[in-house]
Amino acid sequence: MSGIKVTVCRDSEEVAKAASGIIARLIRENPGAVLGLATGSTPEPTYAELVRMHQEEGLSFAGVTTFNLDEYLGLPGDHPQSYRYFMQKKLFDHIDICPWNTHVPNGMARNIDLECQSFELKISSVGGVDLWLLGIGANGHIAFNEPGSAINSPTRVVDLSSNTIESNSRFFRDPSEVPRRALTAGIETIRSTRRVLLLATGPSKAAAVAEAVKGRYSCRCPASLLQKHPKCTFIIDQEAAAELQSTGR
Ligand code: F6R
Repeated sequence: MSGIKVTVCRDSEEVAKAASGIIARLIRENPGAVLGLATGSTPEPTYAELVRMHQEEGLSFAGVTTFNLDEYLGLPGDHPQSYRYFMQKKLFDHIDICPWNTHVPNGMARNIDLECQSFELKISSVGGVDLWLLGIGANGHIAFNEPGSAINSPTRVVDLSSNTIESNSRFFRDPSEVPRRALTAGIETIRSTRRVLLLATGPSKAAAVAEAVKGRYSCRCPASLLQKHPKCTFIIDQEAAAELQSTGR
């Protein structure tokens, strides 16, 4: 049986308010919190709200450590489509977090295997992640763990599916510029976190959300592997919830 708790909000703005509220509460209770973060369109309004809370309500990130889920292989951190660049522009540049406490896998690392191992070691060395914020792909992927990823997969290099390359090409001038490989935290890396918050907005996520929450527990839908996580909440808008409702799931 699925242990995923689902909170349905009116729209993406409400999703951002709910998610940022949970994150802010965690940081206020534990100023040394360790956060896992995602890139993509879905968490952008949540980051904007966290920036607002920092600027207007004094929410401090000075003691916070962050780990990002993934990075394209071969893109340097100053490339506008790299995930490091995204995080700087959307969040890190606007809050008081210590730069050395922000960890995004290095897509330019000379020894990629070592980079993956050291990413896992850094997570262990700070005592694990308190809360990981996730998005979901239309094919059910979490981070860049595409369908078929093993439940015990660690941080590693993966080939991106054609579905994901096509979807992410909207951020590049030309689809041929989309990197074909990426570094990603594994399913096991994500499942080991103490709390998971997955956000989904818009109709394109409805089928994946329904499959993850009520479908079979299977690596064919990587997000369904969160069903057995002890503390996993999906915060979704009405459009992303459409197939949960229409099927009576
Ligand atoms: C991003 C990530 C991806 C996205 C997913 C949804 O760091 O890990 O799994 O969360 O592809 O992307 P958006 O939010 O752009 O629809």
